[in-house]
Amino acid sequence: MLPTAISLGRRPTFYETADASLLEAHVLDFSGDLYDERVAVRFVARLRGEERFDTVEDLIEQMQRDCEDARRILAP
Ligand SMILES: Cc1cc2nc3c(=O)[nH]c(=O)nc-3n(C[C@H](O)[C@H](O)[C@H](O)COP(=O)(O)O)c2cc1C
Repeated sequence: MLPTAISLGRRPTFYETADASLLEAHVLDFSGDLYDERVAVRFVARLRGEERFDTVEDLIEQMQRDCEDARRILAP
């Protein structure tokens, strides 16, 4: 099982409106290739709601905090 930080949403930082939500599972400390692999995703804890950030830098900083939070919960 691989620890991930998951985003389920419409990426409001980049899109005013989006027809569908997108699920992105960022696998922590992983650099392999998972393209075309079938995966199952399990939600363990809710970290926060989706936000619209003023700058990409602000989003990246928050995503880094998300990864730290996910790591603390999943791989203490
Ligand atoms: C852990 C995590 C949290 C995220 N949180 C947000 C968020 O709060 N707001 C947002 O607009 N996008 C959020 N995203 C989505 C990013 O905007 C998305 O990964 C980025 O647009 C890159 O997409 P691309 O790989 O299709 O270019 C999050 C993604 C991850 C992995």
